[in-house]
Amino acid sequence: MYDWLNALPKAELHLHLEGSLEPELLFALAERNKIALPWADVETLRQAYAFNNLQEFLDLYYQGAAVLRSEQDFYDLTWAYLHKCKAQNVIHTEPFYDPQTHTERGIPFEVALNGIRQALKDGREQLGISSGLILSFLRHLSEEEAQKTLDQALPYRDAFFAVGLDSSELGHPPRKFQRVFDRARSEGLLTVAHAGEEGPPEYIWEALDLLKVSRIDHGVRAAEDPKLMQRLIDEQIPLTVCPLSNIKLCVFADMRRHNILDMLEAGVKVTVNSDDPAYFGGYVTENFAALHEGLGMTEEQAKRLAQNSLEARLV
Ligand code: ADE
Ligand code: ZN
Repeated sequence: MYDWLNALPKAELHLHLEGSLEPELLFALAERNKIALPWADVETLRQAYAFNNLQEFLDLYYQGAAVLRSEQDFYDLTWAYLHKCKAQNVIHTEPFYDPQTHTERGIPFEVALNGIRQALKDGREQLGISSGLILSFLRHLSEEEAQKTLDQALPYRDAFFAVGLDSSELGHPPRKFQRVFDRARSEGLLTVAHAGEEGPPEYIWEALDLLKVSRIDHGVRAAEDPKLMQRLIDEQIPLTVCPLSNIKLCVFADMRRHNILDMLEAGVKVTVNSDDPAYFGGYVTENFAALHEGLGMTEEQAKRLAQNSLEARLV
């Protein structure tokens, strides 16, 4: 039905690997690792995917990620996502993963990284999908914890091209992480950050001015600040927007209220991404399809959005 959207060559620039954990794989990994789950079956788990805000989602997302234990688990997770990319003509991806989600529960740092890294390599060689990995810090934890994570990551410096910032936004402004981002940049890493998803435009300013980010993840609340909008347009700073995520997490009441096409027409370099597709109802093509159905996105606009994603690549 959406062959014309599937056929567009696209890049995905905002995807949490842990958020691509489909309920079927979640159950299979729980069985493999002998982990008891609080849900009776896949269907019951899917029914729990109803959220009023970001935190309600994150609580379930961290619970789900607990089934990931071995290198093979992380490989299987990443490999399944890359197959979705292949099916949807996503030719390039720059996924995030959250090391602290795993080290906090006793999984050694290199276990997650090795599984993900091997799958991304196989994806390049066997599926022809180019990629670069972003190490994302959990902002509800302290800057000291982020510094420790960067210490653990630096021996594997070549496995990443950037650091990011995700998890609970409100009350955890970008300025909290200025020093660890400074250090990451001094090591030659690029920076990105979630900002302006639930948080105010000030968090976007801080991400730009203090964390020196190359892209803003989400950023939809920039529309509340005309000076910020002008800066995004003048400097062509990409926003990695995630339409289905924004509806599922009640950032907008429904898709007809979403501001992505207004931003596009104003000259902001917006892109379409899936964020946590296993939890939010679809991958990149489904996000494009939702914009067509809910906002009347035209073919010409879809092409510009896909082109923006290719131009906003950092590797
Ligand atoms: N982690 C996974 N998805 C996220 C989102 N949409 N916002 C913040 N942190 C996240
Ligand atoms: Zn995200």
